[in-house]
Amino acid sequence: MRSLPSEPRIGNKTNSRAARAPLAAMLRTVILLLASRLATSVELPKVKLNDGREMPALALGTYLGFNEHGIIRSEDHQLRDVVTRAIDVGYRHFDTAAVYDTEGEVGEGIAAKLREGVRRSDIFVTTKLWNTHHKREQVSVALQQSLNATGLDYVDLYLMHWPIGLNEDYSYSDVDFLETWRGMEDAHRLGLVRSIGVSNFNQGQLERLLNESRVKPSVLQIEVHPQLPQTSLVSYARARGLVVMGYSPLGALVARFGAPAPRSEGVLQELAKKYGKTEAQIILRWLVDRNIVPIPKTVKPNRLEENINIFDFKLERDEIQRINTLNTNTRFTLPSFWQNHPYYPFEKIDNPIPSPFS
Ligand SMILES: NC(=O)c1ccc[n+]([C@@H]2O[C@H](COP(=O)([O-])OP(=O)(O)OC[C@H]3O[C@@H](n4cnc5c(N)ncnc54)[C@H](OP(=O)(O)O)[C@@H]3O)[C@@H](O)[C@H]2O)c1
Repeated sequence: MRSLPSEPRIGNKTNSRAARAPLAAMLRTVILLLASRLATSVELPKVKLNDGREMPALALGTYLGFNEHGIIRSEDHQLRDVVTRAIDVGYRHFDTAAVYDTEGEVGEGIAAKLREGVRRSDIFVTTKLWNTHHKREQVSVALQQSLNATGLDYVDLYLMHWPIGLNEDYSYSDVDFLETWRGMEDAHRLGLVRSIGVSNFNQGQLERLLNESRVKPSVLQIEVHPQLPQTSLVSYARARGLVVMGYSPLGALVARFGAPAPRSEGVLQELAKKYGKTEAQIILRWLVDRNIVPIPKTVKPNRLEENINIFDFKLERDEIQRINTLNTNTRFTLPSFWQNHPYYPFEKIDNPIPSPFS
């Protein structure tokens, strides 16, 4: 009988070590979770999509741009580290695309934070179907390739990058974007993606899509900045229930390869002074106040924080109007080499540039 008390003790010792291991793992997860919560300086608001889902109101752009040598690629996992840092300071939405060649590192950065306890359901990933996969049966295959690249088992939003279909050799394909949309609907039905939408569609193309689709597009992603406020297309898309995402939001304020030197504007300087913000923050807030989800891209830690730190002030209605008047109808993404394609969405120009893809 004496041994009775010791048995449980011995048993307790052995059991307690076994019991402590999952407890320690659990504690570690909780500590990491708390640490990541503490590092999160900004609580990102969300916008509601027409399919009932929610999207964080600002996304980090992950297209690294191009220079005279072509598309810029991440070196030494720089983008992976930008993504993890971005999650630490509050970003929850990442914009990538098959053609950017950044899906892999976006996925790596997210995976690193998931291992630390961030929940997948708190992260929103947008990626895009490239033009060479516009046949209906190619869409889910392309999306599966994007999933493999990111290491995710679904993406939150899949966008048709352009209404323009191309063959593998980049010659024009006459595949109708409505056929491509059927493929987007298939991918949605298969559960590979939560929400679907389009990018670089003009109003007529969007209207045709809305009239012909079974699953309505939830999002329109277009270029929007002070030199291209897109007031009419934004109003149309919003009236038809779409959320607009604005790409290249910083417009002429920042250096862009092949574009004129960066330019500041008096009204932006004045408002920056009034609100104690930078001109970049004023522009990003101008988008948010127009119910547009901006997609600023940066690889600089200080700018990551600057660009998300815009949810503690609001512009007046007349201030929004004053920024709208900076419109010069300037597009920084103008693939005029496709301008003879039947589904080219923009106005044609006199001297189209040669295709960088051929
Ligand atoms: N759907 C489409 O067809 C399409 C087309 C274009 C872009 N996009 C998406 O939109 C994203 C953003 O577009 P974007 O990269 O063209 O333009 P952007 O975000 O307006 O500008 C990016 C440039 O601004 C600099 N920058 C960032 N924050 C800054 C700040 N606070 N102050 C000063 N400079 C700053 C960045 O440099 P650092 O990195 O050195 O900071 C980079 O050179 C892309 O990454 C991509 O995800 C989509």
